[in-house]
Amino acid sequence: ERSEVEGARPPSDAAKKVKIGIYFVTWWALNVVFNIYNKKVLNAFPFPWLTSTLSLACGSFIMLFSWATRLVEPPNTHPQFWKNLFPVSVYHTIGHVAATVSMAKVAVSFTHIIKSAEPAFSVLVSRIFLRETFPFQVYLSLLPIIGGCALSAVTELNFNMIGFMGAMISNLAFVFRNIFSKKGMKGKDISGMNYYACLSMMSLLILTPFAIAVEGPQVWAAGWQTALSQIGPQFIWWVVAQSIFYHLYNQVSYMSLDEISPLTFSIGNTMKRISVIVSSIIIFHTPVQPVNALGAAIAILGTFVYSQDLENL
Ligand code: 3PG
Repeated sequence: ERSEVEGARPPSDAAKKVKIGIYFVTWWALNVVFNIYNKKVLNAFPFPWLTSTLSLACGSFIMLFSWATRLVEPPNTHPQFWKNLFPVSVYHTIGHVAATVSMAKVAVSFTHIIKSAEPAFSVLVSRIFLRETFPFQVYLSLLPIIGGCALSAVTELNFNMIGFMGAMISNLAFVFRNIFSKKGMKGKDISGMNYYACLSMMSLLILTPFAIAVEGPQVWAAGWQTALSQIGPQFIWWVVAQSIFYHLYNQVSYMSLDEISPLTFSIGNTMKRISVIVSSIIIFHTPVQPVNALGAAIAILGTFVYSQDLENL
């Protein structure tokens, strides 16, 4: 599939933009559905380590099935590929479980307001660890992002430290994941879809023993019974939906990461959070104070300013 694309004439800039636009909108829509079902599940069944594991297991199963039936051509991987994938999988696992733990403790909107600071983390990580430098105005545009998030955090009605820290840890872990994923895909004969499939499988292997140690089958069984008796059989479908949509939105996000820089990815991800924040506030009737909403708006506007600065580099 890849060689066909490589053999063909390079797509025009406009065609590429349309393709990325379609990826972005699909990614955001799938993510909204994931966030709603994920929170519905966590409200009834507060075991984020298991729900995170099930999301990865579902994605791994979907991709193994797609490879076995040749719906998707399996990638040609070498031991060195899996070795390089290991640290990326560690970051993916940490970022995923930390975000889910956060969402189990606080409103979905709050987790995503904090996660809208991801571009700021991206710049800081690139500066500190990769010694990349940015023009002064890029650093300046980080101020509203950080300030807006801080304002939202201090005025959050249901503030919870684990919820806050989970979202912050997720920001940091995902920035490393994105930078190393991009390096892992660049110039390699593996598509974004297959790269993410391998990433899910390795993350599943890493996360499973930790999930058993932190929560474990006994609490899961008891919690499952309680959730089933409170919600009814549709609870199972909520779990299935959150797992399938988790895989699908990540798969589409990796199909776009394959074509864009980790920074543009982080910006697209922050735009995505606007739809998640608005839809989750409506669906879950999240109480918001005006000053709390102002913080979120400043943070998100800050991302727009920041992306303008990057465009002009
Ligand atoms: C997760 O569970 O991985 C988070 O909900 C995802 O965070 P993201 O919105 O950064 O993908």
